[in-house]
Amino acid sequence: MFTRATSLVHHMLRAHVREGDHVLDATCGNGYDTELLASLVGAKGRVVGMDIQEEAIAATRTRLVEAGLVDRCSLHCMSHAFVGDVLEEGTGLACAVFNLGYLPGSDKSVITRPQSSRRAHEAVIDRLSPGGVVFTTMYTGHEGGQDEAEGLLAWSRQLPPTHFSVARHEWINQNGHPPSILVITRRAKR
Ligand SMILES: C[S@@+](CC[C@H](N)C(=O)[O-])C[C@H]1O[C@@H](n2cnc3c(N)ncnc32)[C@H](O)[C@@H]1O
Repeated sequence: MFTRATSLVHHMLRAHVREGDHVLDATCGNGYDTELLASLVGAKGRVVGMDIQEEAIAATRTRLVEAGLVDRCSLHCMSHAFVGDVLEEGTGLACAVFNLGYLPGSDKSVITRPQSSRRAHEAVIDRLSPGGVVFTTMYTGHEGGQDEAEGLLAWSRQLPPTHFSVARHEWINQNGHPPSILVITRRAKR
């Protein structure tokens, strides 16, 4: 469970997401994260899913239909840079998930990019409920991945500690380019 980024993020999602929550999957891909989120929020919760590729949205929709979870989800084929346009006004997010990089088994030139990732993160942290969390899995093995990760780290490092807690989980004894997980939590009001 703790040896793979996806498993660890799923473990943290199971610990954090509650029935009735509103949550975001900012990079649906093949829909694994969206499906887990939809199962965790229950019938009264809502999942907003976004991906820039129609193929990814279709795969996610199929997965949700097969799991009987599609009714609690709204899927958008658009860049998460425009996430502010699809989130309901006044509804706080309990959680957002970004799994950056490219869609496995697909066109590796369609990747998340530093500028749009940063813009999406800026919009998302504004919409987090107190105690809400953004989980971002960052990959550095593909072209542009290092810049994207460094940009997000530099940006998140300067978030005010009075309002946000920022942590990073990384695998430090692996060869190659293991992913790391950025965890941004909006502090509950005291
Ligand atoms: C690593 S995959 C996500 C895997 C997914 N979370 C899953 O459970 O299968 C990254 C996804 O980000 C998508 N993507 C790339 N740029 C994007 C953008 N600007 N906005 C939203 N999605 C984007 C890609 O199309 C790809 O499907």
